Amino acid sequence: MFTATTSMYCIFGKPVSHSMSPLVHNILFSQLGIDAVYLAFEIDDIKKGVESIRSLGIKGASITIPFKEDILEYLDSIDDMALQIGAVNTVLNRDGYLVGCNTDCSGAIEPLKETAGSVTGKHVCVIGAGGAARAVAFGMKKEGCRITIVNRSKGRGEELANLVKGRFLTLSSFNDLTDLSNSIDIIINTTSVGMVPDIDKSPVNPSVLNEKMTVMDIVYNPLKTKLLQDADNTGCKTVDGLAMFIHQGAAQFELFTGITPSRQLMREAVLEKMSGKR
Ligand code: ATR
Repeated sequence: MFTATTSMYCIFGKPVSHSMSPLVHNILFSQLGIDAVYLAFEIDDIKKGVESIRSLGIKGASITIPFKEDILEYLDSIDDMALQIGAVNTVLNRDGYLVGCNTDCSGAIEPLKETAGSVTGKHVCVIGAGGAARAVAFGMKKEGCRITIVNRSKGRGEELANLVKGRFLTLSSFNDLTDLSNSIDIIINTTSVGMVPDIDKSPVNPSVLNEKMTVMDIVYNPLKTKLLQDADNTGCKTVDGLAMFIHQGAAQFELFTGITPSRQLMREAVLEKMSGKR
């Protein structure tokens, strides 16, 4: 039961009605007996959102599309990784002092390492150059990977490649150069290609794939994207998009509460919800 002393956490975004974050955070609060609640707020103005964190004493917030970049200027400090990435997905309220962090980055790396083992020195191709790609690419750089940014358009792709001291390939040249595939260890799709309703699309030509690769997709609707189906058929190791969602959420929960939550419990809750059982 909620009382006058219940702690409040929330997510700010637009849209947020399909967010799975309230589900997983509230299940964890309940299972762990923590007197807290997590709500979703669809807002137009992130400046006002930040003001409400201060005025209502909200203990922590998740930040999602389209506010991850715009929020930086309204916070009191930004941690190093979030500053490098240029995006915040987590706000911590430390007695009125608001700190911005980014757990998308570790959220991508952790499940990849669980599947691929050490990624240090590995050649990673990041498909896309948007916000999600930045988080993934900076995370990979921190791990000591060799990075190729693969993007449909040149300007954005080259910019990110320069920032992470990687190289750049257009998506069409990447999909044409099958001999290049011998040197790729990991492919990560950070674009929305393959998401419902376009479930028969993949950003990667299947002939680029070989069985030694690990392939990760950040799309989790559907869970088994065309890219991951092609990777499975080729014999690659695969990491689905739910893994990243769960790991970034788990890292966020740990920042909020200091407690490391069960990833398994979180994953099961989301899968139940997706299959309509919850
Ligand atoms: P996010 O912040 O969620 O990563 P974004 O900033 O809109 O989203 O970035 C989307 C990325 O997906 C971009 O790299 C985009 O390529 P462009 O820079 O060329 O726009 C890529 N993308 C989106 N739709 C795509 C499609 N149909 N084919 C290939 N790439 C696509």
